Amino acid sequence: MKINITEKNLSQSGALVVFALNENEQAKLTDTASDVDVKIGGALSKAAGLGSYKGKFGQMVEVVAPTGIEASRVLLVGLGKEFNISEKQAEQLGGKIIVKLMYAGDETISIAAGSHAAHVGFGALLRQYKFDKYYTTEKNIKTPTVHNVNVMTSDLANSISAFDDLEKIADGVIMARNLVSEPGNVLYPESYAEQIKELEFLGVEIEVLDEDAMEELGMEAILGVGQGSSSETLMVIMTWNGSKDKDAQPVALVGKGVTFDTGGISLKPGAGMEDMKFDMGGSAAVVGAMKAIAGRKAKSNVIGVVGLVENMPSGTAQRPGDVVSSMSGQTIEVINTDAEGRLVLADCLWYTQEKYKPKFMIDLATLTGAMMVALGQEYAGIFSNNDQLCQQLSAAGEAVDEPVWRMPIGEAYDKLINSDIADMKNVGGRYAGSITAAQFLERFANETPWVHIDIAGTAWKQKASDVAEKGATGYGVRLLDRLIKDNYED
Ligand code: BES
Ligand code: ZN
Ligand code: ZN
Repeated sequence: MKINITEKNLSQSGALVVFALNENEQAKLTDTASDVDVKIGGALSKAAGLGSYKGKFGQMVEVVAPTGIEASRVLLVGLGKEFNISEKQAEQLGGKIIVKLMYAGDETISIAAGSHAAHVGFGALLRQYKFDKYYTTEKNIKTPTVHNVNVMTSDLANSISAFDDLEKIADGVIMARNLVSEPGNVLYPESYAEQIKELEFLGVEIEVLDEDAMEELGMEAILGVGQGSSSETLMVIMTWNGSKDKDAQPVALVGKGVTFDTGGISLKPGAGMEDMKFDMGGSAAVVGAMKAIAGRKAKSNVIGVVGLVENMPSGTAQRPGDVVSSMSGQTIEVINTDAEGRLVLADCLWYTQEKYKPKFMIDLATLTGAMMVALGQEYAGIFSNNDQLCQQLSAAGEAVDEPVWRMPIGEAYDKLINSDIADMKNVGGRYAGSITAAQFLERFANETPWVHIDIAGTAWKQKASDVAEKGATGYGVRLLDRLIKDNYED
């Protein structure tokens, strides 16, 4: 499916989409919709006058096979009370329209989107994605009838340039969704690293640390997580130097990439364990964001670091009670091998701040089930030692509809992870599970401005939204991209 930003042309074949407002509890056609209505002999206003159509946001009414125009159907879509909708609403409309028309039979959809064209197209692009590569039978494969989506605007130059960037961001979101959707037998550290190398064609430098290299650096925390798996544990570092000053201090994004989390010897229960293929969602957000940032040639220096590892039980697996020494030198008593994400991030964060001295580090991870208990699937939780970064992230999250909610951290929580025999233990007891996980990470941020984003609830959804099919959301890509775009570009 190709999205084209085009000039307004109401005489196209296929489906034509026009808009109505909700005024005084009634539908009011926009000027373009009125023009179309006149051409088809008033069929649109007639249809809108029937039943309960009021032009409410997203409300639709359809006129099929009208005479007087080329189009096979006209879809009238409600904007709600305001003509000036937000970017977020434009994306939602794009998504709603594509769901309605994707399989309806037309090869072309033409949307009279006006100044919102770029975001309507973006919403359509995000919503049409489906992870269907493993279907082989006719029964399962549902091919959209639509090939071309023309999003029409009078503001062509601006809309085209806005959409150029949004298309790159969508590439990043879709890469993240693909990675998260892949099962653990296909996506394991080595195959994952190969996929990340594909970013080289965008100008991203890729470095891979293997187990020997990590051993050399003293990274027993991440290596301990992978020691029960037959897959090699890897750390992948992505570098995008888009700033005018190639030596300018970078910003750093860090991701948990547990390609499958069985829990290890602290084995998870069987029911629902298959979901743990998405335990690399934090790393996928980082990889997707790097793709978006490099794709749109962001004028910023950005480092992405992901720890790729499989958490398996076996004769060589880490035992509960084992003590490991992290790269930082701090020792960790591993009480529960299922609290592995923080062990992975501990070495990733320490390495990142020591090697790159970044302005800040943001880590993303499907870190705790407790996060879903606290915030459900709407907001991701953020935990930080820096107020300004939190404010910037909150604003970015609102703008792109990937919202975050700040959670508290502090000494009283921190002491819950003190251990009797090592510098810390990797779990903090029954209460405040997401916060004690964050306290653990903070000990490896080493004074660097840092935010931890727990995306356990937002990386995967059981229900479709206006901009995503059910399944992997790609959460985090848009958030990180926007944070950088609004605050950290030349
Ligand atoms: N990957 C899980 C967290 C998770 C659970 C994410 C469910 C999404 C959905 C993580 O590694 C884990 O197992 N955490 C434990 C921590 C506990 C042992 C302190 C948890 O949340 O139960
Ligand atoms: Zn776990
Ligand atoms: Zn995990």
